[in-house]
Order: sequence, then C-alpha cells, then structure tokens
Amino acid sequence: MQKLPKPIRLLAPLVALLAAAAAISGCGTTNPDVARGRVLFEQKCGTCHVMAQAGTSGTTGPNLDEAFAAAREAGGFDAATIEGVVKAQVDNPRPGNGNPMATMPAHIVEGTDLDDVAAYVGKYAGVPGAAPPEVEGGPGAQVFANNGCGSCHTLAAAKSGGTTGPDLDEVLPGQSDAEIEESIVNPNAKIAKGYPANVMPETFKETIAPEEIKQLVEYLSESTSKKSGG
Ligand code: HEC
Ligand code: HEC
Repeated sequence: MQKLPKPIRLLAPLVALLAAAAAISGCGTTNPDVARGRVLFEQKCGTCHVMAQAGTSGTTGPNLDEAFAAAREAGGFDAATIEGVVKAQVDNPRPGNGNPMATMPAHIVEGTDLDDVAAYVGKYAGVPGAAPPEVEGGPGAQVFANNGCGSCHTLAAAKSGGTTGPDLDEVLPGQSDAEIEESIVNPNAKIAKGYPANVMPETFKETIAPEEIKQLVEYLSESTSKKSGG
C-alpha cells in the first residue's frame, strides 16, 4: 500500500476530530432513526428486556412494555418522556436492588446510537398491540426478522446485510439442518472461522420457541440451498 504524502498524513487526525464534532453537533438537529434503533435494541437490550415490537424476550431486566404501558395509558408519559427515561437509565442505571446479577451496565449505547434506541423505545414500549413488522416469506422468515438475525447476518432471502457474523448465503449451503440448528441454539459450540466467540447471543434456545426454531432452520436451509443449486 502506498504511503500518503506527509501533509495529508498530518491532516488525518484533524479531519477525524472535525467529523466527530460534526456528528455530536448534529445530534440535536437530525431526526433519530427509529428503524436503526430497533436493530440496536435487539442486539444490545433485547437479551435482557422483553419488548413486543422488537420480538425480544430477555428476562434479566423488567419487561419494558409493562414498565411503560400504565404510564402511557394514564397520559402522563408520551414518547418524548419515555425517550428521556431511557436515556437517563442507559447513562446512569439505577442500582439494581443490591443484586449484582440484576444490574444494568452503564453506557451500553452512546451518542447517535443512544438517540436512536431511545426514540425507538419511546415510540413502541407499552403501545397496545405493538408487534414486529410482518415480513413475507413464511413463518421462518418472520422468526428471522423478529429475532434480529439480519442485524448481524447477510441473507439475500431476507434482504438483510449484517456483517458482524458470517454471510449465511455463503456458509450454509452444504450444512445439515442439525448443524444449522446447533449454530443457533449453541453458538459457542463451534466458532465460525475468522469470527469472534461470544458475539452471537446464546439465549435463542430460551427465547425462541422450539417450533419456531424448526421453522427458522427450515427457512435458512431452503433459502440458502436454492441459491447454491443455481
Ligand atoms: C445485562 C442486562 C441488561 C441489558 C443488556 C440492558 N438492561 Fe435495561 N435493565 C436491566 C435491569 C436488571 C434493570 C432493572 C434494574 C436497574 O434499574 O438497574 C433495567 C432497567 C431498565 C429500564 C428501566 C425500566 C423501569 O422499570 O423503569 C429501562 C428503560 C431500560 N432498562 C432500558 C434498556 C435499554 C434501552 C437497553 C439497551 C441499550 C438495556 N436496558 C439493556 C438489565 C439490562
Ligand atoms: C449480535 C450478532 C449476531 C446475532 C444477532 C445473530 N448472530 Fe449468528 N453469528 C454471529 C457471529 C459473530 C457468528 C460467528 C461466530 C460463531 O460461530 O458463533 C455467528 C454464527 C452463526 C451461524 C453459524 C455460521 C457458520 O459459519 O456455520 C449461524 C447459522 C447463525 N449465526 C445464525 C443466526 C440466526 C438464525 C440468528 C437469529 C436467530 C443469529 N445468527 C443472530 C453473530 C450474530
């Protein structure tokens, strides 16, 4: 790789600083991205919190629909108020009743990420009838969408482009249903080459019902083998 000429090399840190400052000053003026907030919520919060619209079912922390439903119904809490509560909680979690197992870590998300997550929770937590957006492609496609798999994995059939985990169109052809299922319910049993352990949530075997796991595996197997056959 060619070295940059010296003046440009000196400028690089300044450019990075300016970009960071622009990002910070942009916070108040740009609208938060609620769809992005949903993806972040699934990844960073759903392991501990139930929220129907996100399709998450973690139980370490309180159910956020229940936490905000009453307040929303009574009219005291609007989206903006809930957004504020979420930001305060993420920046400075309340001490968890002296039980170290049930404490929320501080600063799980920050900056624009926090803006987007807070706006997402403010929009949907405790809203009666809130459910994950419906997708086409059958029950397995819905399970894939509900559980945020696409936020980390590319899968053409789901039009998802996540890159944290392997591209499922590339790695799944040739794998048996049992192997695919094992990767989902027990992700650390075998770590995909070139990818980190402990990143894919280990909670799916508890949070996705067994019949839904079956639908999900069928969907992955069918949608990726069709591709490889072509
Ligand atoms: C490791 C588990 C864990 C993660 C991850 C987590 N939380 Fe929590 N959360 C908790 C626990 C436990 C509580 C209740 C105890 C406390 O206040 O610390 C809580 C409380 C809350 C509350 C207050 C609810 C109420 O009843 O007032 C909100 C809001 C919240 N979390 C939002 C979030 C958001 C948003 C994220 C993701 C950015 C997140 N949490 C990630 C465990 C977690
Ligand atoms: C937070 C990111 C993240 C989420 C969410 C996630 N995964 Fe993963 N996944 C990974 C990473 C990283 C790996 C590679 C390391 C490993 O093998 O555990 C992986 C590995 C896999 C593999 C094995 C791939 C191979 O090379 O054989 C499968 C299959 C898989 N994931 C399916 C899913 C499904 C289905 C969901 C949703 C229920 C999901 N993942 C959710 C990050 C994620």
